[in-house]
Amino acid sequence: MKKAVVLVVFALLSLSLVAFTLLESSPTVDAKYIGTKKCGMCHKAKTGDQLGIWEKSQHAQAYKTLQSDASKAIVKEKGLGDDATKVAECLACHVTGAGEDASKFEKSFSIEDGISCEACHGAGSEYKSKKIMEDHAASVANGMTEYKTEADIEAQCKTCHNEKSPTFKGFKFKEAWAKIAHPTKEG
Ligand code: HEC
Ligand code: HEC
Ligand code: HEC
Ligand code: HEC
Repeated sequence: MKKAVVLVVFALLSLSLVAFTLLESSPTVDAKYIGTKKCGMCHKAKTGDQLGIWEKSQHAQAYKTLQSDASKAIVKEKGLGDDATKVAECLACHVTGAGEDASKFEKSFSIEDGISCEACHGAGSEYKSKKIMEDHAASVANGMTEYKTEADIEAQCKTCHNEKSPTFKGFKFKEAWAKIAHPTKEG
C-alpha cells in the first residue's frame, strides 16, 4: 500500500516536472495580438503610465513612417514600388506581428500601432488577465516574453535596430533604452 502511494506521488512529480519543462522550453501558447489599447487599460498613470510613455515614443509612429515621403523615396530607389506600407521587407520591422496569419490578430489590434507593447512583450491574449499578470511565471507560461538579463533586452532591440534598416546610423543600447524605459511605479 505505502509503496503504491510513493509510486503514485513519484509519477505525479515526474509528470509535473515534464509539464513544467515543456512550458519553460516552448512558450508557444496559441496567443493572439490584442493591441495597445487593451494593455493600456491597466498600464496607465497609476502604475507608471507605460501606455503614455509608449504613445510619445517613435515606436508608436513606426507604421505612419511607412506612409511618409521619405519611405516612398526609399522603396522607389530599391525598385519596390511606391507604397512602403505594402512592402513586406519594410513591414518586418515597422509593425507588430509582421507576416503572421490574420487569425492571430483580435479586432482590437491595429496595425497603426506600429511597434506596440506586444512587439516586445509577446502576443497578449492569454496573459492579459490581472491574475496571470501578477504572477510572473504564469505570464511567461502564457506567452509573455521573458528577459532574464540586460543582454537579452539588447538582443531583442537589435532584431530591428541593425544594418538591415535602410536608415541605420548605429544603435547605442543604453541611450536608446533610456529613451523608451517605462518602469512600474513602486508601491
Ligand atoms: C487586467 C489588467 C492588465 C492588462 C489588460 C494587462 N496587464 Fe500587464 N500587468 C498587470 C498587473 C496588475 C501587473 C503586475 C503589477 C505590475 O508590475 O504593474 C502587470 C505586469 C506586467 C508586466 C511585468 C510582468 C513581469 O512579470 O515582469 C508586463 C511586461 C506587462 N504587464 C505587460 C502587459 C502587456 C504587453 C499587456 C497587453 C498585451 C498587458 N500587460 C495587459 C495588469 C494588466
Ligand atoms: C520590432 C522592431 C523593433 C524592436 C524590437 C525595437 N525597435 Fe526601436 N524602433 C523600431 C522602429 C521601426 C523605429 C523607427 C520608428 C519611426 O521613427 O517611425 C524605432 C525607433 C526607436 C527609437 C527612436 C529613434 C532613435 O534611434 O532614437 C528608440 C530610442 C528605440 N527605437 C529604442 C528601442 C529599444 C531600446 C529597443 C529594445 C528594448 C527597441 N527599440 C526595439 C523598431 C524596433
Ligand atoms: C531591420 C529592421 C528594419 C527594416 C527592414 C526597415 N526598417 Fe525602417 N527603421 C528601422 C529602425 C530601427 C528605425 C529607427 C532607427 C534607424 O533609422 O535605424 C527605422 C527608421 C525608419 C525611417 C525614419 C528615419 C528617420 O531618420 O527618421 C524611415 C523613413 C524608414 N525606417 C523607412 C523604412 C522603409 C521604407 C523600409 C523598407 C524598405 C524600412 N524602413 C525597413 C528598422 C527597419
Ligand atoms: C521596444 C520594446 C518594448 C515596447 C514597445 C514596450 N515594452 Fe514594456 N518593456 C520592455 C522591456 C525590454 C522591459 C524590461 C524587461 C521586463 O521587465 O520584461 C519592459 C518592461 C515593462 C513593464 C515592467 C516594468 C517594471 O518596472 O517591472 C511593463 C508593465 C511594461 N513593460 C508594459 C508595457 C506596455 C503596456 C507597453 C505598451 C503600451 C510596452 N511595455 C511597450 C520592452 C518594451
